[in-house]
Amino acid sequence: MHETTDLEERVAADPGAFRVLTGDRPTGPLHLGHYFGTLANRVRLQRAGVELFVLIADYQVIIDRDVAERLPERMLGQIADYLAVGIDPETATIFNHSAVPALNQLMLPFLSLVSVAELGRNPTVKDEIAASRQAAVSGLMFTYPVHQAADILFCKANLVPVGKDQLPHQEIARTVARRFTERYGPVFPVPDALLTDVPVLLGTDGAKMSKSRGNAIDLSATADETARLITRAKTDAERRITYDPDGRPGVSTLVLLAALCQGREPESVAAEIGDGGAAALKKVVIESVNEFLRPVRARRAELVADPAQLRAVLAAGNERANAVGDATLHEVRAAMGAVV
Ligand code: TRP
Repeated sequence: MHETTDLEERVAADPGAFRVLTGDRPTGPLHLGHYFGTLANRVRLQRAGVELFVLIADYQVIIDRDVAERLPERMLGQIADYLAVGIDPETATIFNHSAVPALNQLMLPFLSLVSVAELGRNPTVKDEIAASRQAAVSGLMFTYPVHQAADILFCKANLVPVGKDQLPHQEIARTVARRFTERYGPVFPVPDALLTDVPVLLGTDGAKMSKSRGNAIDLSATADETARLITRAKTDAERRITYDPDGRPGVSTLVLLAALCQGREPESVAAEIGDGGAAALKKVVIESVNEFLRPVRARRAELVADPAQLRAVLAAGNERANAVGDATLHEVRAAMGAVV
């Protein structure tokens, strides 16, 4: 990952030159997959001095379902998750799509910069279509990667920490930025993707950890719920515990979970359990996860007890996002010759 190393060095040398935009769909509670895949990275970047824009992607919820359910509850829960893991709302801008009109308006000129063929080739969109249970594929399903380009570019973010599945979208954002510059002049930076080097964290059933599969350890779950989920996890009959993600996905997922929570290498966690078998492994995993999440859960419980405060965080973020978005939209309209 030469490119990523290079980028990390540039960020470390001059964090003030970078603005991060990342986000999550408010479709349910954030889980440990989010934590190790992206949330920890955001907190790290913020502590290093990089400015953070964190998007609650409410318009992305309706890509693959008819209505966004329980949005108020899920959005406030997501803000609580963010703050509980250490995102600092004093310097981060936490906002949601539908509250920032200028962001959404960028979708129109941006759509003119990409071809239908390019949109149709996006492998992540193809996967989502395959996974969706909808009878018909909506226009938003094909075009939301362009909307995601607007998420990134409305605030001129130049750094986007992402997992591998988001790379096709990131390519579209870079293409949009480049083509806008060619056609109308320089308004946008070409944003870099910052790949996280953490291996994909699988759920307790060996499939990708995901809200919809019921295999995810939510940040907000109780210690008992967590224990129950881990107890049910798929393992195998071999007593000797090893870390072998390809050969033993079930056991290795659990080993990795414990290792990430303890800040250790999975091989050494596995060696320590040795011949203890699945029962000993699960005991270690339950203890490590619950120990790791204890302070996060305590902070989160305090946060959700004061929903007015969570709403105030979002209102302040939306106000700031609107100021930034309005300024960018004005530049865009001027570059396009629409300001008369
Ligand atoms: N597509 C992302 C997800 O499903 C969420 C998202 C929306 C996002 N806009 C973004 C991520 C912009 C990075 C940059 O999790």
